[in-house]
Amino acid sequence: MRLISLKLKNYRQFKHTEIEFPDGVIGIVGLNGAGKSTIIEAIAWVLYGNNAARTDKQGIKRAGAAPSSSVEGTLELEVGGTAYKITRLLKGQSQTGAGSITANGKIIADSVRGLDKEIQYLLNMDYPSFTTSFLAKQKELNALSDLTPKQRKDVIIRMLRIDSIDKAIDLIRKEAREKKLEAEVLRKSLKDDNILTSEKQALVIQVEKQKEKGLLIEKEVKKLEKELAAFTEKFNEERKIYEDFATKDKEKAQLEARMTGLKKREEELKEELEDIGKLEKELSSLEKAAKEYSDLEKKERRLAAGREQKIEFIESRLEDLRAEYKRIQEKEKLLRPGEECPTCGQPLKNFQKIKEHFALEKDKVEVEAKKLKAQKALLEDEKTPKKELSKELVEEMKFDPAEHKKIMQRMEKLEAAAERFPRVQAKVEEKKKTETNLKKINSEITVFETKLKDILLQLKEIPYDKKKHQKITDDFNSSKELLDAKFHERNEARITLAKIEGEIKAKEQEIKDNALARKSIEETIKTQEERNRLVDIMIEYRTHLISRIQPELADISGRLFTELTNGKYQGVDLDEDYEMHIFDTGIKYPIGRFSGGEADLANLCLRLAISQLIAAPTGIDTGFIILDEIFGSQDLQRKGAIMDALTQLSRQFRQIILITHVEEIKDSLEHVIEVSEDEEGVSHIRQ
Ligand SMILES: Nc1ncnc2c1ncn2[C@@H]1O[C@H](COP(=O)(O)OP(=O)(O)OP(=O)(O)O)[C@@H](O)[C@H]1O
Ligand SMILES: [Mg+2]
Repeated sequence: MRLISLKLKNYRQFKHTEIEFPDGVIGIVGLNGAGKSTIIEAIAWVLYGNNAARTDKQGIKRAGAAPSSSVEGTLELEVGGTAYKITRLLKGQSQTGAGSITANGKIIADSVRGLDKEIQYLLNMDYPSFTTSFLAKQKELNALSDLTPKQRKDVIIRMLRIDSIDKAIDLIRKEAREKKLEAEVLRKSLKDDNILTSEKQALVIQVEKQKEKGLLIEKEVKKLEKELAAFTEKFNEERKIYEDFATKDKEKAQLEARMTGLKKREEELKEELEDIGKLEKELSSLEKAAKEYSDLEKKERRLAAGREQKIEFIESRLEDLRAEYKRIQEKEKLLRPGEECPTCGQPLKNFQKIKEHFALEKDKVEVEAKKLKAQKALLEDEKTPKKELSKELVEEMKFDPAEHKKIMQRMEKLEAAAERFPRVQAKVEEKKKTETNLKKINSEITVFETKLKDILLQLKEIPYDKKKHQKITDDFNSSKELLDAKFHERNEARITLAKIEGEIKAKEQEIKDNALARKSIEETIKTQEERNRLVDIMIEYRTHLISRIQPELADISGRLFTELTNGKYQGVDLDEDYEMHIFDTGIKYPIGRFSGGEADLANLCLRLAISQLIAAPTGIDTGFIILDEIFGSQDLQRKGAIMDALTQLSRQFRQIILITHVEEIKDSLEHVIEVSEDEEGVSHIRQ
């Protein structure tokens, strides 16, 4: 694999940058914070997306970039003779991801998912494996030389990704524990099969008993049904008789009621006729009294009329006198001395005399009025004796108060009889009609008597007997009640049977479930045991892997070391803790025997060997290696020695990218990419 170029837009401090990667040793040089490591991060980001970045995706976009601008990275590389161009984007304000990949200019994917899939397929490794294979950091080299044996072993195991086996072992162990727990829970819920079976057996016996009971009830039902049938027949016959009897009996009652009515009416009519007979005797005297009363009435009316007339006459005369008096008074008022008399026309020579004349006239009127008033009062009082009335008055009105009084007294006596007479007369006149009615009633009574006799005869013929009827009805009803009770009993028995049968089914299910639970426990335990075995196998595999990797790592790093020291040393060896030993003239010495520079080189070789070991199974050649700040505290001479050694590496790596802020190195590099930051915090490249 070879890097060709990288293009960045708004990626962290890079606004717009293009970098070419030639073959050979390339130095990326710049001060602290200039953006060197960012270039490496960007390569990984284009390939693996946001999980390759050291911040979240919001942190990636250049601080000064416009909110609507996008982050963009394009990496060109060559793998197995094919040129790939990979672009990844975070678009606009929402930072929506986008991506595409072309192979020899042809698009093979143009979505983030498609791109991720293609990268996985192309490189055959995930992001952690990629960084371990292609990127060695100073920190890791330090770890290889300075850490305690235990820590060093851990770091190497992690780099070799053997720790993933540990994770897998932990997961399987957890699963085994869970299975164990599951089996325990299941075991607790397990029931005793013997108890379940005997419980079921008891239910089966109950069912049998219930069935027997059912049969017995059925028999009884049949018997009762037969009985009821017999009673029903009798009851129906009896009912017919009773209905017949009841109809006739009702008829009889109606006739009797009618008869009572007729008899009562007969009595009334008879009484009426008796009364009429009595009244007939009274009638002639009543008639006489009534005649006399009527004559007296006429007489009285006449007398009263004479008196009334006279009173009326007096009243009208009094009216006239009142008018006369008023007229005289008015004339008197108009009189003046010297005028003529308005009545007689004589000159009123003697006024005094005239006045006297008027007074006289008035007196005359007053006297007559007084007389008339007295007469009227006398007339109005009936008690006034005739002798007190003036003779001419008596004559004039033909009214005798004494006679009038007599008439009135007689009339009072006769009044009741006179009043009774027309009523008695009417009653007597009704005699014939009443007699006809009585005859009619009598003949009706005869008809009804025959009818009644007939009905009584009919009733006698009906074989109805109250006691017998009651017994048959009672027998029928109690038989029906017995049968109903039996039906109820049968129903209850059926329900009980169904209930027990249901319980048996539930019990059978319980037995089945128990068996299933038992099986499930067995399976769970089996799985648990399998997982335990798998853990053992994995641990064995891990030990095997470590024991196998160790000599291979020693071999690769030994060969690299021999090459880089131009054959001065014959190789290296690693002990159990990955502690290095160096062969000098065939003898193995601990690394502490050698110079600091030689030790650095040996560690670098070990780190490169790890890179190759990781990449080996993927089939990808480690065409390039990035070494980030591998110059630690070495002096200039040691740095020079490493630089010399790196140029020797070109057989293993076509591109060696060396990141450093050590300016002096620049001269000994084939290609230099200078990274610097301007006043606005934007990084630039010079190459
Ligand atoms: N989104 C961003 N926009 C602008 N600058 C950013 C952004 N993210 C990080 N930086 C800056 O980038 C710089 C880090 O760059 P980088 O790690 O590449 O430096 P370096 O050259 O590797 O330094 P050293 O030599 O110390 O390792 C820091 O100054 C950091 O503030
Ligand atoms: Mg850095």
